[in-house]
Amino acid sequence: MKKIPSSEITPEALFHSRRQFIKGAAALVGSAAILAACGSEDTSNLPAGVDVQTPYESIINYNNFYEFTTDKEAVAAKSKNFTTTPWTVEVGGLVNKPQTFAIEDLLKQFSQEERVYRLRCVEGWSMVIPWTGFSLAGLLKQVEPTSAAKYVRFETVMRPEEMPGQNSSYYTWPYVEGLRLDEAMHDLTLMATGVYGKPILPQNGAPLRLAVPWKYGFKSIKSIVKIELVAEQPTSLWMNAAPDEYGFYANVNPDVPHPRWSQSSERRIGEAGRRRTLPFNGYADEVASLYKDLDLTVNY
Ligand code: MTE
Repeated sequence: MKKIPSSEITPEALFHSRRQFIKGAAALVGSAAILAACGSEDTSNLPAGVDVQTPYESIINYNNFYEFTTDKEAVAAKSKNFTTTPWTVEVGGLVNKPQTFAIEDLLKQFSQEERVYRLRCVEGWSMVIPWTGFSLAGLLKQVEPTSAAKYVRFETVMRPEEMPGQNSSYYTWPYVEGLRLDEAMHDLTLMATGVYGKPILPQNGAPLRLAVPWKYGFKSIKSIVKIELVAEQPTSLWMNAAPDEYGFYANVNPDVPHPRWSQSSERRIGEAGRRRTLPFNGYADEVASLYKDLDLTVNY
């Protein structure tokens, strides 16, 4: 990711007033902690596993979406007129039943549920986002991956006329990400279509983005138009841009520093202080077994 001074990572505008904080605390995941959290504006003493949902205004105004701009606070304005209808997603590759889905059909066919996930950006900030969406597994089962399919490759729409960042040759567009097939089939892996019960906005990856909560945020690719089952490990945009900094697995790992900074703590947007980063972003019980045969210091 672009080198940014730490002073920029947490813009002052995102420090919330006491009033806003208390409102956010009311949405605490795990109500036992509500009283303790309300007592103080400085949440740096919160145990790493206690979450306050990030205010909607922060979720929609502090974004990484390099197709529009590298300025996190300008993505919302720059993506305002992004066309999200009509929208189709092509799902194919090593499958028996390739299919192109209109977004309306995906919304109808797969029941939408709310999932509150932590998102930990590789840059050292995090949010807690109530997504609505459906498990990717259901969609993949429908196209019937063949036994040759080992990985899933995702692609963001290529539309340089609407996405000015795509006119820069600094990155290899379109944005590409990938998962191993078992990661893609894991129930936590979500295709997100909404935030706080509202349809997802362009800045968050409308109309369809991935949310893989145990991996660094860059794996959660936005505005997806193509999903391909493949035999070989896909090369992502970030692996192309800086292979020594961004690996394929990108599991949140506080013990493996990024070459330019530590990953041991994070700044939760809307909170003062920093929190300890948890292995697999706090989802170890659910996903650690996927990696039992893998050295995660090498496969970062
Ligand atoms: N997807 C695309 N297509 N382009 C991007 O620049 N940024 C990634 C990820 N998905 C990105 C993307 C990064 S680095 C992060 S941290 C998350 O989106 C941020 O998601 P949010 O803005 O919805 O919080």
